[in-house]
Amino acid sequence: MRVVCVAGARPNFVKVKPVMDALEEGGAEVLLVHTGQHYDPVMSDIFFEDLGLRRPDYFLGAGSGSHAIQTCRVMTAFEPLIGQLAADVVVVVGDVNSTLACALVTAKSGVLLAHVEAGLRSGDWSMPEEVNRIVTDRVSDYLFAPSPDTVANLQAEGYRNGQIHLVGNVMVDTLLTNLGRATSRDIVSQLGLEPGQYGLVTLHRPANVDNPSVLGSLLPALAEIAGLCPLVLPAHPRAAGRLRGAGLPSGVRIIPPAGYLDFVALEASARLVLTDSGGVQEETTVLGVPCLTLRDNTERPITLTEGTNRLVGRDPARIVAAVREVLACPPPARAPALWDGRASQRIAAALFGDIGDGERLRRPASQPILARHSSPRPQPGTADRAVHVAGQRAAPSRLLDLLRQTSRMPAGTAACAARDTTMATAQSRTSCTLRIWLTMISTTRYVIEMLHDVIPVRRGAPAA
Ligand code: UD1
Ligand code: UDP
Repeated sequence: MRVVCVAGARPNFVKVKPVMDALEEGGAEVLLVHTGQHYDPVMSDIFFEDLGLRRPDYFLGAGSGSHAIQTCRVMTAFEPLIGQLAADVVVVVGDVNSTLACALVTAKSGVLLAHVEAGLRSGDWSMPEEVNRIVTDRVSDYLFAPSPDTVANLQAEGYRNGQIHLVGNVMVDTLLTNLGRATSRDIVSQLGLEPGQYGLVTLHRPANVDNPSVLGSLLPALAEIAGLCPLVLPAHPRAAGRLRGAGLPSGVRIIPPAGYLDFVALEASARLVLTDSGGVQEETTVLGVPCLTLRDNTERPITLTEGTNRLVGRDPARIVAAVREVLACPPPARAPALWDGRASQRIAAALFGDIGDGERLRRPASQPILARHSSPRPQPGTADRAVHVAGQRAAPSRLLDLLRQTSRMPAGTAACAARDTTMATAQSRTSCTLRIWLTMISTTRYVIEMLHDVIPVRRGAPAA
């Protein structure tokens, strides 16, 4: 099995490494494509060094730009490459522009696509990552979900259960693998900090750092918090200039973006973390460190219900009040099931199970209506979604009406059934056979109904 893994931005490197390892351990040939979305040594090279990630096989050099420009550069560079690579499957991780760009190219190339970290939803369409996640999931063949809530999101959107794999969290795989090495670093003392006495801050969401009035209101809050415990802020390049320009309050120490091991060392010994990062919400949960998320929503609500995270928004008074509460009464350490360091092995097992023997799943969009019709107990919302995907009427009970509108329905049905036969996995052959029988019954019903429709017209014609 030949697998192309894609990474482009800082959190991608952290997520892709254990997946590559697990696939290689299982005997897959793995190629790494670095899109170049992040390129500064502190945003890219240091992760290769710290994680032991081998040099990329291909570097696309996309660099920075607007969303359209960056996505377009990655797509333009990846499209000719995918034609040459003869991959069995492309693995994309996370929700950055590189994820979306390579997902779109892969989907149109016909190569199978696997999305690691599928099903995350913030419900906030103003976040570019929300768009990236939803579109990437939609064109993926394999949806590797980190937690039960993300599985529920996917089911509610109408994805087939056979596509969804609850595997756990690959970022946690990397964290647990490297925690010992990270905590033996001396970054905490180098910065003159006392373990367990300081706060760690990260800020890089456009909604926080691109808007001067939001940033301007966050800084006084940080100043007040720094009076309770010193703060260290490794500044993402998007934020660095703006933070310096705004004039950081005393007690808040700004440092360059930290390498992975140093950052985890700082996280693990922090008294609390203030962040707008996605990955940091997860890592603090596993480390048992209190986390206050400076956003109004999160695509990782499981860190709120089963972790140490708390959403505190952007209101300075609310943030400071939450800090006081957490310092006085830290949340208990707890972490979601399957965040156990073995998510990547589960991903590898799923891919080897399906693709390793030459069998193929098919894309979700290739079977929109008929399989839903044959499904005895559709998940809530799934049937409606399936009909919607077909661009037709919304009510699944109107299926035959819908099919009647399609003049070539029997031919389409036959094609769908044939595709089922050639592409279904060994495990799903039985259900496939059942589906074909049900499809044939539907076809027969369709023909009968059509005859009912046609015959009265012919009979009535002479009299008219
Ligand atoms: C991107 C992701 C975001 C993720 C974050 C991780 C998208 C839409 N956003 O945001 O989801 O949380 O990465 O860190 O994909 N820059 C540098 N050097 C670099 C990279 C970036 O100076 O190596 C600067 C450039 O000025 C660039 C800006 O940072 O314009 C933003 O970079 P970009 O990759 O577009 O978005 P991020 O904010 O990093
Ligand atoms: N991280 C890092 N150095 C930093 C900030 C974050 O190594 O200065 C790591 C962090 O441990 C996590 C990942 O980067 O593994 C999170 O990336 P980021 O916050 O940039 O993106 P997000 O998770 O929000 O997409």
